[in-house]
Amino acid sequence: MHWHILGAGAIGLLWAGMLNRAGFTTTLLFRNSEKLAAFQQTGKLSLTQAAHQEQDTQQYPADARLVSDPGRIDNLLLTTKAFAAVDAFNTVKPFLSADARILLLHNGMGPQEALAQQNPELNIWAGSTTDGAYQSAPYQVVQAGKGETRIGALNGNMSGLFRQLSPAIDNLIHEPDIIPVLWRKLAINCAINPLTAIFNCKNGELATNPEYRKEMAEICTEVEQVARALGITLFEKPLIEQACHVATVTARNSSSMQQDVMHRRPTEIDSITGFLCQQAAIAGIDVPANQQLLMQVRKLQPETNIQDR
Ligand code: PAF
Repeated sequence: MHWHILGAGAIGLLWAGMLNRAGFTTTLLFRNSEKLAAFQQTGKLSLTQAAHQEQDTQQYPADARLVSDPGRIDNLLLTTKAFAAVDAFNTVKPFLSADARILLLHNGMGPQEALAQQNPELNIWAGSTTDGAYQSAPYQVVQAGKGETRIGALNGNMSGLFRQLSPAIDNLIHEPDIIPVLWRKLAINCAINPLTAIFNCKNGELATNPEYRKEMAEICTEVEQVARALGITLFEKPLIEQACHVATVTARNSSSMQQDVMHRRPTEIDSITGFLCQQAAIAGIDVPANQQLLMQVRKLQPETNIQDR
């Protein structure tokens, strides 16, 4: 089986490594020719499994092409940032084979349902992962913590997809209803990401600093109200407890949004808190704490044209 991977960040490269490890082949898609040329100098990616008692590093060859010339795509993994997902998908859409299988794996919500609705004829799955991965150097990905990846169909019938992927991808779980799973990840991201960006702190401080924790509790209450109104079940315990648990087990991590703000990159705020606020408006619920965060984080990120992202 051959997979095209669009979004060569840590999660895209982690999947490329795991797919190659299982004997599949991959093509990494690049949006600019400089990045493509830099990758092609070695044409290899490396996967280090730091979760093992002894670190294990393997190198794998990967084909690489430009998004404008990807060749025929039978299997597409889309791991871009949420704000780039729809544009990235539309660039490669003309190259999808008639029965292509598409898996969307990014933080936030909005693009998954938009793409599924705009393309009812396509087989589209979405997923959510708790894997911890980072790039120690360009195209050298470290799997720092083994989490779980849940995937499920939005459109179409791809019953074989899970069976084919599951020997390759660590801790892969098939979800008959993926939307509540995406909501659970969204709820955690709403609680942790904007506050770490605003306070410029590591995840753990949100659980230990009483002032930060109080703000997180207000955010969580609003998120729970919206989820309840939409009939989404979040966690067995209150969201604030679950969010504090995640902040504690990832205490020394910088959230993706905190890193984006620190590096002056656009953030995923509109697909996280922005999506929550949109859903709140549809449900007729006031979410002032989340609205305020949305405005604050938007101000922290650089003004960018979507083409630059
Ligand atoms: O976006 C992130 O950084 C992660 O999803 C999370 C759960 C907040 C942990 O850092």
